[in-house]
Amino acid sequence: MKHFVIVSILVLIVTLLLILGLNAMELTPQLASEEGALVDQMFQWQVYVISFIFALIMVIVLYSVVVFRRKPGETGDGAYVKGNTPLEIAWTLVPLVVVMGFGVMGAVQLSDMTAMEADELVVEVTGFQFGWRFDYPDYDVASPNLYLPRGRPVRFKLTSTDVIHSFWVPEFRIKQDAVPGMWTTLRVTPSELGVFRIRCAEICGYAHSAMYADVVVVEPSDFEAWLAGQEVEAMAPEELTPIELGAKLAEEQGCLSCHALDGSTLVGASWLGLFGSERQLEDGSVIVADEGYLRNSILDPESQVVAGFPKVMPPAYTMLSEADVEAIVEYIKTLSE
Ligand code: CUA
Repeated sequence: MKHFVIVSILVLIVTLLLILGLNAMELTPQLASEEGALVDQMFQWQVYVISFIFALIMVIVLYSVVVFRRKPGETGDGAYVKGNTPLEIAWTLVPLVVVMGFGVMGAVQLSDMTAMEADELVVEVTGFQFGWRFDYPDYDVASPNLYLPRGRPVRFKLTSTDVIHSFWVPEFRIKQDAVPGMWTTLRVTPSELGVFRIRCAEICGYAHSAMYADVVVVEPSDFEAWLAGQEVEAMAPEELTPIELGAKLAEEQGCLSCHALDGSTLVGASWLGLFGSERQLEDGSVIVADEGYLRNSILDPESQVVAGFPKVMPPAYTMLSEADVEAIVEYIKTLSE
């Protein structure tokens, strides 16, 4: 009985210390969505249960090692213990109730988080190797970064053009796969202003770890202003000069996920100062990056690979129209150092 009381007190103390310690470690990033509050609630309950189970096992093990160790000169056998029915019933029922409790809690919260809401903003998310594209079908707007108004429920429709990706914003706490050939759904209500990172949470190829985009959460009025600006930009292609069209395509088609405009090397070469520069190809030959080379690199990216770069440019751009390819080349030509 004495041992039982001491162990109980020790378990209680260690549990409390573990809860305090784990909470102080800030295991999750900033919380920025209403749905995420439910996830964090659940996570907090897990921290309580995990701390208790860890304390229960470790305290009993260490207490036994110290207090019940064999004394010098002690050579007899230990007491013969055969079963303990109440204890066995308890250690079967208690975990069962705890696990079922978490199951019910999770199911209730999941149905809350995924429930349809009035006034949803629909955003189509397309993942591709290696970037994201966001379409706002109600407004005829497309963007390489995601803009969202704070406080309005958003329904994401996700898909992919090539392999399976996974749309993940840690600050929103939730993620969903983007699967080629189908739409998946994810609902989020952003609750905090700020710029957060969208990551890909599914190994999808060479530049998986660089498959980023930003989600910018703004006040609803600023969101309206952003949309209005985008709609002007969404003018018909024939109203734009080739250079303007090229700049727009570069964003919309995701070129800029892999090609920087500031001279830094992402997955592919930077476009700054590219036109007219000398490029050494894989086979050792040196060519000048003229219009023909740029066209060819868009339409048949594996035919002239520059030494040191991986062959990862998607073939999807062969679907661009002749005018679009020309526009992108014209745009690259303007990016001289
Ligand atoms: Cu896309 Cu990993």
